[in-house]
Amino acid sequence: MKKIEAIIRVTQFEAVRDALAAIGVQFFTLKEVRGYGLQKGQRLMYRGANHGADFIARLQMDIVAESGMVEGIVKAIESAGKTGKIGDGKIFVFDIETAIRIRTGERNEEAV
Ligand SMILES: Nc1ncnc2c1ncn2[C@@H]1O[C@H](COP(=O)(O)OP(=O)(O)OP(=O)(O)O)[C@@H](O)[C@H]1O
Ligand SMILES: [Mg+2]
Repeated sequence: MKKIEAIIRVTQFEAVRDALAAIGVQFFTLKEVRGYGLQKGQRLMYRGANHGADFIARLQMDIVAESGMVEGIVKAIESAGKTGKIGDGKIFVFDIETAIRIRTGERNEEAV
């Protein structure tokens, strides 16, 4: 099993959600996160003033899936999340040691 963490633009969320649904992935955890990086510096300088916000609102989607699904999930997020402009975000893939469905006690692939 793998965990896919994707940091995406808020504007791309619906497209990414629909691209995932199209490949049968209708489970994820959505987090509102604060992204820090070069873009904020460029944006604040462009505006010529610091308005007190030194981060950019982003969404993080966390998906745990069997390893065989990872390539399709990553491709769906990459294509639907891409605008081609600086700051489209990142995708990270982790190994998952154990997954447990609390209701049934099922483990690992049976639990996701
Ligand atoms: N190395 C990282 N570790 C954790 N989060 C990151 C990392 N890089 C980017 N992020 C998250 O992704 C958001 C968007 O990153 P961004 O797309 O600007 O990455 P980038 O590498 O600078 O690519 P680009 O050249 O397209 O700007 C950041 O605001 C931050 O939330
Ligand atoms: Mg950047």
